Amino acid sequence: MLDIESLLLKLSNARGPSGFESEVRQIVRKALVPYVDSIETDGVGSLISLKNGPSNSPKIMLSAHMDEVGLLVRYVTSDGFIKFQNLGGWLDQAVIGQRWEIMTSKGIVLGVTGIKTPHVMSADERGKIFKGESLFIDVGAKDKSDAEDRLGIKPGDPIAPFVKAEKLNESDFILGKAWDDRAGLAVMIGVMDSIKDKDLPFSVYAVATVQEEIGLRGAHTSSYAVHPDIGLNLESGVAGDYPSISQYEAQEKLGAGPAIFLHDSSMLPNLNLRDFVIETANEIDLPLQFNVLSGYGQDGAEMQKAFQGTPVINITVPTRYLHSHNSLINLKDVESAIKLVEACILKLDPSIVEGLKSFD
Ligand code: CO
Repeated sequence: MLDIESLLLKLSNARGPSGFESEVRQIVRKALVPYVDSIETDGVGSLISLKNGPSNSPKIMLSAHMDEVGLLVRYVTSDGFIKFQNLGGWLDQAVIGQRWEIMTSKGIVLGVTGIKTPHVMSADERGKIFKGESLFIDVGAKDKSDAEDRLGIKPGDPIAPFVKAEKLNESDFILGKAWDDRAGLAVMIGVMDSIKDKDLPFSVYAVATVQEEIGLRGAHTSSYAVHPDIGLNLESGVAGDYPSISQYEAQEKLGAGPAIFLHDSSMLPNLNLRDFVIETANEIDLPLQFNVLSGYGQDGAEMQKAFQGTPVINITVPTRYLHSHNSLINLKDVESAIKLVEACILKLDPSIVEGLKSFD
């Protein structure tokens, strides 16, 4: 039996800034191998696994991204501080006062994004926000050569947020980094586990993509590698259930089940597929949430645009505090998302797939 909770903790703790997903890829590959007939990487590092169906049968593609928002070393200052480039969409204020791990060729180097002490600030200065270009990481180096020669820090080295995932106060909430999109990866692995003994009338591809946070790059290449008939993208959703965010901005709630995106700035879901997922959720009595977002981009958009176009929907695990060191998901939502995607897959057959692909 797959232990989804420990899988989630392991995935969250793995370092995988965009373009440097190796640790995550190793975990996902090991988890998927027992469930699939083949597994390979494409030219940018996305992991493409296949559970074979009959020859010439439709291809269902599940996707989730391995990368997380991180940083990259820009240069080391003469006094040994690290200036960096953002990988993905950080709020500058979320970057400050945090622990980071610089992934060097000599090993992991721990550092902190120091924040200027308020003791020296005027009342005016205390109200100001800190700009990204003023930020730095302190690794306790004596100077530039100490950082470079002793610690092995080089321009271009990736930097991952450092925090250990844990259950929050014996609730079903799990606190950790990178639920975007390690939650989606756990759902994908959970689904492949649940269908492992099924003889399906189509092929299922479980694809773990790279470089989503910097422009859906891995989803682009892997969609062309697979050429799916139907795409189900598995993502972290946007919860709107805490103080300071409004229902207008985001409608998902933690603990209330998986959600589907009805609009984000990268994609509209296929309407047949939307109705199919809603109907399937109803049939298995599983609560389903909806989210209409003005912003956000996700890998499903690349699947949708590949070749002549593909019916795609984005299915999510509601998440609070995305793109920060400490985000929250609910274990029950992960389990429900697995049940929903499993039920969708078990209900599909080649004629339903044909129907989903047709327009009147
Ligand atoms: Co994401």
